[in-house]
Amino acid sequence: MTDRYAVIGNPIEHSLSPRIHQRFAELTGEDIAYLRLLGSTDDFAGDARHFLDTGGKGLNVTVPFKEQAFTLADDLSTRARRAGAVNTLIVTDQGLRGDNTDGIGLVRDLRDNHGFDFTGRRVLLLGAGGAARGVVRPLLDAGPRHIVIANRTASKADALAARADSARVSARGLDKLEGERFDLIINATAAGLTDALPDIPDTLLAKGGWSYDMMYASEPTAFVRWGRTRGASKALDGLGMLVEQAAESFCLWRGTRPPTGPVIAMLKE
Ligand code: ATR
Repeated sequence: MTDRYAVIGNPIEHSLSPRIHQRFAELTGEDIAYLRLLGSTDDFAGDARHFLDTGGKGLNVTVPFKEQAFTLADDLSTRARRAGAVNTLIVTDQGLRGDNTDGIGLVRDLRDNHGFDFTGRRVLLLGAGGAARGVVRPLLDAGPRHIVIANRTASKADALAARADSARVSARGLDKLEGERFDLIINATAAGLTDALPDIPDTLLAKGGWSYDMMYASEPTAFVRWGRTRGASKALDGLGMLVEQAAESFCLWRGTRPPTGPVIAMLKE
């Protein structure tokens, strides 16, 4: 029988995950069906449970339910615990396992797809909400010299840096970045939802520096345009991260790693 998976979020109609996972299934010869589920904001747990109790083998979880999925899981991977959020639920013999593949997806896209060498680099992470929280530890594990977390509300950046508990992570308000230079600037703020930009100096990119927007849209996002006009060597959007986090989820469910290059190329068309 075909195994069923789904992505649950609200809104969900524009999710690319069904296309990504169906293509992974074709490329690996796995027999799966992958659906879109609109979760109700007042009963995420009920909706997720219903899918899993009626034969669903796993779920991808997206905005705004990742923290609730963290609570729903019977047991958690280390990276889910560190992120405080779950984007992948896996039905196992022991119960419902929660994992988080967002951070490794970001690192794989930068390092493996685009060849960014983190060693010795200074990284700026903009934002301190759920999106930023999921990627701090995997970024740190990739080996940069230092990560600065900068947020409009400085206290939230402080709290996130404190969680990381590393001398290689520090925090400040967006208004305290003047005069600094970074090799990689990652936008994890929600400003792009309204095509806006975090209020940052124009001069933050070091020579040869890259910009990365964790958001993705069919047109260049505001932050991709920011990178292009401020001299970024590469100004990337989050499409590659989206496909890489999906590949990691697929691998957790099916035990086989799908190729991501052809899927990224398909979505870019
Ligand atoms: P999520 O969990 O989806 O990341 P969130 O917790 O609301 O959402 O966090 C959104 C992040 O984007 C926060 O870091 C927020 O900054 P504040 O903590 O100061 O609110 C940031 N953000 C949203 N809109 C922004 C804007 N226009 N400029 C700069 N930062 C913005």
